[in-house]
Amino acid sequence: MKTAGCDWRQIAAAGALLLSLLGLSGCERLINGPAKAHDVEPRPEQILEFKVLYSENCQACHGADGRNGPSIALNNPLYFGIASDDLIRHWVTDGGPGGLNPAFGTESGGLLTDDQINVIVKGMHERWAKPAMLVGMTLPPYAASQPGNVAHGAQVYAQACASCHGVANADGLVLKPGKSGSITDPTYLALISNQGLRTITIVGRPDLGQPDYRNDIPGHPLSDGEITDVVAWLSSHRQADPGNPHPAGSGTELQKRTGQ
Ligand code: HEC
Ligand code: HEC
Repeated sequence: MKTAGCDWRQIAAAGALLLSLLGLSGCERLINGPAKAHDVEPRPEQILEFKVLYSENCQACHGADGRNGPSIALNNPLYFGIASDDLIRHWVTDGGPGGLNPAFGTESGGLLTDDQINVIVKGMHERWAKPAMLVGMTLPPYAASQPGNVAHGAQVYAQACASCHGVANADGLVLKPGKSGSITDPTYLALISNQGLRTITIVGRPDLGQPDYRNDIPGHPLSDGEITDVVAWLSSHRQADPGNPHPAGSGTELQKRTGQ
């Protein structure tokens, strides 16, 4: 039988094992001294990489690579033809109407710095704008300059939209559904602003098959006035209280019982 005892090789091996265990257990600071700046994860406000900023802040709504999300496709050259970088920066910093697009700027309660917002805006422009494609095109203006004629908008809808979004009566009630969803339903209209309707009508949703303003009626690009009017008609079906069968004022059960 061998006597219990260690030769120098066993001691060295045990020492190496101890050091590696300390390393594994996060004790390497005991060995290597305090962590240096480059060893630690960057703080959130230090991230200045477009891919990371876009995927963490925008992708859930605007889709991976700016397409196929629930909200407007930003990866659309026509969009950059109507929206300047300053305007896009404003949407991102201060948010959209009714909070539909979140406000990311720190002054509006968001978490992105001006530098990070600039990286996002510049990154989208570099990747998704294609100025050469727009040469010679005169796109309708981004914003409506007039309130719009609702009655004429109903006619534009019938000619330009009903074939896909369904034939609707004057109240916007779809009488004959089309292959695409209703855009006059108050629950849909609660999720989009008038500008959102206008933007999508002009630039389309190439990812989903919504035509841009040039292709709703073959051979007849929609004019600024037609777009303004159809948006006015669509938005005339918006309700203050979508989804509530007893709109405010008509007296719901709860209102009758509580007297409020
Ligand atoms: C919670 C969902 C959500 C997130 C997250 C989000 N958006 Fe949006 N965004 C929307 C919606 C909804 C709209 C349309 C609002 C409307 O109808 O006016 C919109 C609109 C926009 C518009 C304006 C489109 C127009 O009509 O001109 C821009 C630009 C935009 N978003 C950029 C971004 C960027 C960049 C990010 C990330 C920093 C982001 N959004 C994150 C939901 C989101
Ligand atoms: C050739 C068929 C077609 C025509 C014509 C058409 N659309 Fe669409 N539209 C689509 C498709 C496809 C989508 C994708 C979503 C869907 O299928 O409902 C869409 C989506 C939309 C959306 C976004 C809906 C959403 O989910 O946010 C709006 C707004 C819209 N269309 C407005 C219009 C307006 C206004 C007109 C008429 C000026 C029009 N469309 C004409 C096919 C069409």
